[in-house]
Amino acid sequence: MAAKQPLIISDKNQMRKWSSTMKSQGKTIGLVPTMGFLHEGHISLVREVHRHADVVAVSIYVNPGQFSPSEDLSTYPSDFDGDVRKLMAVPGGVDVVFHPHNLYNYGGTDTNKKSASVINNVAVLSCIEQKGIGHETWVRVENLEKGLCGKSRPIFFRGVATVVTKLFNIVEPDVAVFGKKDYQQWRIIQRMVRDLDFSIEVIGSAIIRDSDGLAMSSRNVRLSPEEREKALSINKSLLGAKSAAANGQMDCNKLRNLVIQAITEAGGRIDYAEIVDQQSLEAVESIEAPVVFCVAAWFGKVRLIDNMEIDL
Ligand code: PAJ
Repeated sequence: MAAKQPLIISDKNQMRKWSSTMKSQGKTIGLVPTMGFLHEGHISLVREVHRHADVVAVSIYVNPGQFSPSEDLSTYPSDFDGDVRKLMAVPGGVDVVFHPHNLYNYGGTDTNKKSASVINNVAVLSCIEQKGIGHETWVRVENLEKGLCGKSRPIFFRGVATVVTKLFNIVEPDVAVFGKKDYQQWRIIQRMVRDLDFSIEVIGSAIIRDSDGLAMSSRNVRLSPEEREKALSINKSLLGAKSAAANGQMDCNKLRNLVIQAITEAGGRIDYAEIVDQQSLEAVESIEAPVVFCVAAWFGKVRLIDNMEIDL
């Protein structure tokens, strides 16, 4: 059977129209938000969403609202045609790829005609910053956004929560799937959906790893072969901590030290290594309820995140 060619929609009003047509036919809509450069981790979310919805939309949008000026927005990898091919290869395909050029342009200078995403990103940033008539509404999940990645990336989750709100308002999905790879992001979106009464089921989907254990990420392509090898210390040490906990080590400081030492000895630079409650994301001293061990570490110029749930 020929692979299903998805509808590619870049205009938000056209996207809304498609969704309302689907709803009028009684179909439920599943959404997987992404920033593109898709790998097996993203594809696993598409497979998951198929289990919960009649029709599937995947959004591909590198959201400038979640990058700080010093971060890698202009060099964020992209391969739109390759992404579409990968989505067509998923069993059941996808119905729509929503690929907006600029979700922050409310009518000023039209940047929609340009195709190079780098040019667009720069233009989009100036839309956000446009004095007086630019974008100024942000969604903040006040406590959950503070710890872990929020410490070193203070505007990141405000950008994520805001763009996901925009995507939810445009696509109006019944179900949305997020990866547990970005554990804090998933919990923030769940909390936001509850707090703001979105009628959307938010599903967290398991981390997909390469065969050597490295969690898949669009940023992995930036690692040199040596850095990649060293980065395996993240998953290995998290597995070590998990088995130490299974063998009765409940002291979180001791477990944290195992991981910090292993990653540092391998040549990584720790941003954080914290054991937190799975719901509140607050640090715990000993393991008494389900926790998640979250790590962010630099290898060369690449910051990697990973985590492991420990449900004893
Ligand atoms: P992006 O980094 O492209 O990730 C899109 C989705 O894929 C996220 O839900 C992320 O958790 C999931 N994902 C990435 N790597 C994964 C892996 N190895 N296993 C399982 N899931 C994985 O996250 C974003 O984009 C953005 O912040 C977004 C939510 C789209 C808002 O802009």
